[in-house]
Amino acid sequence: MVGDVKLNAEIKDLTRIERIGAHSHIRGLGLDDALEARAVSQGMVGQTAARRAAGIILAMIKEGKIAGRAMLLAGQPGTGKTAIAMGMAKALGDETPFAMMAASEIFSLEMSKTEALTQAFRKAIGVRIKEETEILEGEVVEIEIDRPATGNVAKTGKLTMKTTEMETIYDLGTKMIDSLTKEKVQAGDVISIDKASGKISKLGRSFARSRDYDAMGPATRFVQCPEGELQKRKEMVHVVTLHEIDVINSRTQGFLALFAGDTGEIRQEVREQIDSKVSEWREEGKADIVPGVLFIDEVHMLDIECFSFLNRALENEMAPVLVVATNRGITKIRGTNYQSPHGIPIDVLDRLLIIATEPYSETELRTILDIRCEEEDVEVTDDAKALLTKIAQETSLRYAIHLITASALICQKRKAAEVEIEDVSRAYTLFVDVKRSMQFLIEYQEQYMFNEVPDLPQEQPESEQMQA
Ligand SMILES: Nc1ncnc2c1ncn2[C@@H]1O[C@H](COP(=O)(O)OP(=O)(O)O)[C@@H](O)[C@H]1O
Ligand SMILES: [Mg+2]
Repeated sequence: MVGDVKLNAEIKDLTRIERIGAHSHIRGLGLDDALEARAVSQGMVGQTAARRAAGIILAMIKEGKIAGRAMLLAGQPGTGKTAIAMGMAKALGDETPFAMMAASEIFSLEMSKTEALTQAFRKAIGVRIKEETEILEGEVVEIEIDRPATGNVAKTGKLTMKTTEMETIYDLGTKMIDSLTKEKVQAGDVISIDKASGKISKLGRSFARSRDYDAMGPATRFVQCPEGELQKRKEMVHVVTLHEIDVINSRTQGFLALFAGDTGEIRQEVREQIDSKVSEWREEGKADIVPGVLFIDEVHMLDIECFSFLNRALENEMAPVLVVATNRGITKIRGTNYQSPHGIPIDVLDRLLIIATEPYSETELRTILDIRCEEEDVEVTDDAKALLTKIAQETSLRYAIHLITASALICQKRKAAEVEIEDVSRAYTLFVDVKRSMQFLIEYQEQYMFNEVPDLPQEQPESEQMQA
């Protein structure tokens, strides 16, 4: 708690969940200290100009220099736009918030579009909070727990702690006894107890006990017995996002909503109250703003209202850096009849630094496929990899990546250890790529519903003429 706005720093660790996914091999942008892109590094291959550009933007974000800027990753499907955004997220580290969404999510949430975007923006803005807390820090001299004979009497006990200058005995309640037991605190441990929350942290074993070394093993950390008073004030620093503060303080939701991910709409008064509290903290030097990154993928799916919201939101003093990606060329802006490059209105486009991604060369495709095989833990022969690369060139990288898993399963079925050409070609015939699927649809179009392929040009005009 800071003032009357609630905070909960521990929630943050629980809300970030990762699984093995399409981009699980990406561990950063793969840049050197001069921000040049290494050919292959941190799971990243090629696309050096775009990676370097992304790195420069990251460097500016880390220095806290830019807020309210925006960049657009534009390029064909499968050229690594999402991968680069993921690389940026990894390179930013845990302190700087990174929020990610697909533009189309906005239309499926049970809230207004502007509310959804506001939440996304606030997920990308961190507040670094300095809190003074009172702690007890010292070496445990003795723990005495009275074990009552009957089970339903509350446990009591005494804890003796010392510093180099003093020694004090504290009375223990049930809750404290439980956490001491849980942390396996023993005499000789140096511990700190947060007075407000009762949280115990073990700092290590006291040097006075260093002859215990053999019994404790090499993992034991030895520390000095603390000096001075047992009771101290300590400054703690943690980063929470504005969205997390919003949710925790929204009376209807409470912090449990953060786990469910089902936060609903947050009332404007709650946000106003939090914003003014945060600016108060900033003035008092208790908090800083940490502008993070908001990544909106498939940005052409936003409509004109969303774009105008973005335009205004980027003017805000606390705006994060906005990264958007699209694979569209000149196309209609959703919600209008106007065409625009990338389906983005000109006034928004004007704010964007545009980074183009290029199609990959054969060797780059091969290296990406190599990395994916390793990531999925699949052994593939050189010939089979060459075939996968060829497939990637002729269909798409993403399709070839999918074939790795499929071929591995086929290979498993014939109880072989290594994926061979035959497994890949079998997978290739089982699962069609887009081109073959198109071909198939054109051949059999009469058998499908809602057919709009304006094909069979020789016959249709004739039949129309006949009806006329
Ligand atoms: N330069 C790269 N280095 C490593 N993997 C990449 C690279 N570019 C793309 N990939 C991988 O290829 C697949 C398709 O790329 P993706 O980023 O989804 O393309 P886009 O978003 O441009 O359509 C993903 O699994 C991605 O992780
Ligand atoms: Mg993508």
